[in-house]
Amino acid sequence: MSTSLDVLITAFIVAMMAIMGAVLPPLPAEAAPAFFDFGDSLVDSGNNNYLATPARADSPPYGIDYPTHKPTGRFSNGLNLPDIISEKIGSEHTLPYLSSYLIGEKLFVGANFASAGVGILNDTGIQFVNILRIFEQFHYFQQYQTRISNILGQEAAGQLVNKALVLITLGGNDFVNNYFLPLSPRSIQFPLPAYCCFLISEYRKILTRLYELGARRVIVTGTGPMGCVPAELAMRSENGECASELQRAAAIYNPLLVEMIKGLNKELGSNIFIASNAFSMNMNIISNPAQFGFVSSKIACCGQGPYNGMGQCNILSNLCPDRNLYVFWDAFHPTERANRMIVDQIMTGAVEHMNPMNLSTLMALDFQDLTTKVP
Ligand SMILES: *[C@@H]1O[C@H](CO)[C@@H](O)[C@H](O)[C@H]1NC(C)=O
Ligand SMILES: *[C@@H]1O[C@H](CO)[C@@H](O)[C@H](O)[C@H]1NC(C)=O
Repeated sequence: MSTSLDVLITAFIVAMMAIMGAVLPPLPAEAAPAFFDFGDSLVDSGNNNYLATPARADSPPYGIDYPTHKPTGRFSNGLNLPDIISEKIGSEHTLPYLSSYLIGEKLFVGANFASAGVGILNDTGIQFVNILRIFEQFHYFQQYQTRISNILGQEAAGQLVNKALVLITLGGNDFVNNYFLPLSPRSIQFPLPAYCCFLISEYRKILTRLYELGARRVIVTGTGPMGCVPAELAMRSENGECASELQRAAAIYNPLLVEMIKGLNKELGSNIFIASNAFSMNMNIISNPAQFGFVSSKIACCGQGPYNGMGQCNILSNLCPDRNLYVFWDAFHPTERANRMIVDQIMTGAVEHMNPMNLSTLMALDFQDLTTKVP
């Protein structure tokens, strides 16, 4: 008798919980949002390991300061930008989408779709052959959404994507691995300002597509000071000054990007996209390395030739003993320590770095959103 009452009460409680479960948001307010990364080598965490391409970072000394001290495919001595952002939002590192470990609960952490060598344009990085161009990255993002829908149901999966943080880093390769290559068809087709406008109009389509795919919190980085990377110093600089034509490209492109993002947000009626000015962030460090505790912002830690900027970083390259003293790890990519400084700016930077708001403000707003929606 009492047992059947217990069963009834239990059934009642279970039914109540099911009803409450349907009302409550599926993700608790304290949980970190999912995190998705798109773009190039600055954010690739190892997708290219699975592809037949020379654009890869899966051999030593890459990863020398990673927790495992092994190469992972990240273009860094240690952590890259997405890893550090994951830490800041209280989450695990996102796995490369092509990794076989990205299954089950790991899917809810997010995923990294980035692929070294890609650009805004489909014809950027053709020398890297088999890489995930941006629309392929989006194709995989759709596939990912189908996979989580199958687990969570369509509505909860949609919410996970809408609430997620997204980082997209594109553009640098459209200059250094396209327009400024010798005899590039694009440089014959366009003078530099017109090329920048063309890139921006293509980028607008890419961001619009990302919005259509459900992204609502998107950090969009501009290009860094491309003329100051050791590779360009080695190729184009006579006295160690940053290469002027690449600096000019960044100076034209970055303000156009900010304007495009403002326009897009206005059209969408919401601050979906945040312009992150990687140029000013990096330029501060590059111009005043000593102030930030670096011995050099011109010489790469790993490489060979002038500024260690020629060819690839590999086991035969010069390697600096203390990676914390260098802004650049290899000919193009920052060290973990420089990446941390960039992420600090993303978190708390002023409006000239993060427009219209920084990530700490965004997260505070989102937290309010979530807590006010809980009944
Ligand atoms: C790039 O490729 C994608 C898919 O393959 C296509 O939809 C897009 O229109 C292409 N972009 C340009 C500018 O050709
Ligand atoms: C950036 O973050 C800090 C807090 O960390 C805040 O005081 C500041 O107002 C924010 N700036 C913008 C433009 O959102």
